[in-house]
Amino acid sequence: MDINKIRNDFPVFRNEPGLAYLDSAAMALKPDCVIKAVDDYYNKLGVNVHRGVYRLSYEATDKYEEARTIISKFLNCDFEEVVFTRGASASLNLVASSYGLAFLKPGDEVITSELEHHSSHMPWFNVCEKTGAKLKYVELDKENRITVENFKKVLTKNTKVVALTYVSNVMGYITPIKEIIKLAHEVGAIVTVDGAQAVPHMKVDVKDLDCDFLSFSGHKLCGPTGIGVLYGKKHLLEKMPPIEFGGDMADTVLLDSQTYKAPPYKFETGTPIIAGAIGLAQACKYLESIGFENIINQEKKLRLKAIEELKKIDGVIIYNESCETGVISFNLEGIHPHDAASVFDNNDVCIRAGHHCAQLITKKLGTIGTIRASFYFYNREEDIDKFIKAVKEAKDFFGQF
Ligand SMILES: Cc1ncc(COP(=O)(O)O)c(C=O)c1O
Repeated sequence: MDINKIRNDFPVFRNEPGLAYLDSAAMALKPDCVIKAVDDYYNKLGVNVHRGVYRLSYEATDKYEEARTIISKFLNCDFEEVVFTRGASASLNLVASSYGLAFLKPGDEVITSELEHHSSHMPWFNVCEKTGAKLKYVELDKENRITVENFKKVLTKNTKVVALTYVSNVMGYITPIKEIIKLAHEVGAIVTVDGAQAVPHMKVDVKDLDCDFLSFSGHKLCGPTGIGVLYGKKHLLEKMPPIEFGGDMADTVLLDSQTYKAPPYKFETGTPIIAGAIGLAQACKYLESIGFENIINQEKKLRLKAIEELKKIDGVIIYNESCETGVISFNLEGIHPHDAASVFDNNDVCIRAGHHCAQLITKKLGTIGTIRASFYFYNREEDIDKFIKAVKEAKDFFGQF
């Protein structure tokens, strides 16, 4: 894989060749082809879909629905199973607010974990409060991983929903989700997977996983902001009530009754995120052209090297040394992560510091937050040199006080 050639696809790197961008878990940068796809829609079409009875609107509709086809192939599912949303948070909330509120009752159980992003866990906390269902947590193992063994301990015949992350945004661990899904199905539970940190980095085949729902955001996989996907099995989407009403989702509206379109349109109220969907489809094609094996290999290679260098520095606490993706969560002894972040910034190294919208796990780690460096396929060894230099500088600077 020619990293310099790849970096040349990204305007941010052309403008700032020295930038060490290590915050792709928060948001991935955008390549030219995605920007062009969005731009083309606004420049050449710029009209609404589904409703217009003229050529430009037909063309916009074709582009929008073609995006759905591309994404359904990317995930290996049917066209109708791809619901466009504003992002992973909206998708995860949609499942909870629709499926959860409609079908859960007192005595039912929902399994989640302390590794969840707030957007995966909080909607179910809310649903459980409202329905009287019980929220249960898989106990994490010594490394703070979700294991099949511990999952089995909380799974019962009352389990109705399992809401788990595929890849943790703080620890980067991969959940053994396929085995968990199989076990959950054996007791008749459905599984909603937070794929926000998985889909950008590995081939995710929803048929192979057999998950019931999978949520992700476009912006973490080189796509535009404001667009995401909810994959849902067709028979589940069909029986779920809509949570937003009006606009494009209506079928027949009368004074005393109303009906809704079939999925996915039942869940896409109002003017859709047309440019976002087109840009996201282009991003999926772009990632496929890079190849997921190349993506994960590059991330792992860089991460290993960075860990090796970090371990040579005194006072570095690494929380996820054994992680199998491109994320390092660490702290510098006695230094607030936000203080350290300012030194990284001065060195043109973009990292994230804080609780990463996952307070359950940061609390479990016994810290108020961590410094998170996350690698993607466009990072290179020079980024690690800059990163390590910044770590040493932060230590030297704040170590004096
Ligand atoms: C694991 C995980 N789930 C959900 C989300 C929410 O994504 P968004 O903010 O795009 O809705 C994120 C974002 O960081 C995430 O990392």
